[in-house]
Amino acid sequence: MSEKRILITGCNGQLGRALRAEYGDTAAFICTDVAAGDGYQALDITDIGAVLSFVREEKPHVIINCAAHTNVDACEQQWDAAYRINALGPRNLSIAATETDAKLIHISTDYVFEGNGVRPYTEFDEPNPVSAYGKTKLAGEQFVRDFARKYFIFRTAWLYGDGKNFVRTMLRLAENHDTVSVVNDQQGSPTSAAELARVIRHYEPTENYGIFHATCEGDTNWAEFARLIFEKAGKQTEVIPVTSEQYAKMNPASANRPAYSILDNYMMRLTDGYRMADWKYAFDEYLRGEKQD
Ligand SMILES: NC(=O)c1ccc[n+]([C@@H]2O[C@H](COP(=O)([O-])OP(=O)(O)OC[C@H]3O[C@@H](n4cnc5c(N)ncnc54)[C@H](OP(=O)(O)O)[C@@H]3O)[C@@H](O)[C@H]2O)c1
Repeated sequence: MSEKRILITGCNGQLGRALRAEYGDTAAFICTDVAAGDGYQALDITDIGAVLSFVREEKPHVIINCAAHTNVDACEQQWDAAYRINALGPRNLSIAATETDAKLIHISTDYVFEGNGVRPYTEFDEPNPVSAYGKTKLAGEQFVRDFARKYFIFRTAWLYGDGKNFVRTMLRLAENHDTVSVVNDQQGSPTSAAELARVIRHYEPTENYGIFHATCEGDTNWAEFARLIFEKAGKQTEVIPVTSEQYAKMNPASANRPAYSILDNYMMRLTDGYRMADWKYAFDEYLRGEKQD
């Protein structure tokens, strides 16, 4: 067993679970989430006092922040909670990481971009979020840049793993719906939590710090993705493609989302040539894992 100690916050979410599976027993994990659970302790990242005393006590070499307020629609009604978790949380962890000389790995999102582009966004493009979720996540990035010294920020997109996600929502709807309306004018790159965990494990031992786009290769839209999910799962459910405008009329509480939020993993190519898997390949791998569960 390695002596490296890695603190994971939000360990019970999709990425936290994928990281624990990816590393196995090759690292000593200190697992935490907002409330304690089976095999993990409570650590609320919004509480600066709690974060500082926990990190001073445990002295991890690496902190991986998987905690976030990820409900994009709910963030529109819950600005304070979203700023606390998505912005103050990473600020608190950055301050603690700098004090104890730990590396900080933080996760951000394609939703920091406005999404009116015509080519994939690189790390050198200016963010301009259109939702509360995107704004609070961008504020979190800024705090990490201000307060952490040795940091990686990985911007990912359309994440699915062991938890609440689009794939599981579609499969649940297919149980009792013959048709499902899904938007077809938002392009993105579905990314498996397992693929993102591999990226983190690749960069974590290095000093190759900075902001990285980290999405699976290739892209699709939500309606096409839903069709593929049903096809692979052998479901007959029909996908009715709708525009974002039509969807917003049906669901007035839904947040604005970027129409085109494809990320170019440019910094990975530029620095060490690391390539993420094609999204369809990663999706097949995920489905094989789901069948085993
Ligand atoms: N999901 C996506 O499609 C997506 C897309 C782009 C980027 N990302 C980013 O990727 C990262 C991982 O996302 P994910 O899908 O794995 O998230 P997730 O499944 O929603 O997990 C987040 C975890 O953080 C916990 N948490 C919430 N508030 C906390 C607090 N104050 N202190 C400590 N833990 C707290 C949550 O607990 P509760 O469940 O009890 O609240 C949950 O266990 C996040 O930074 C997210 O913004 C996600």
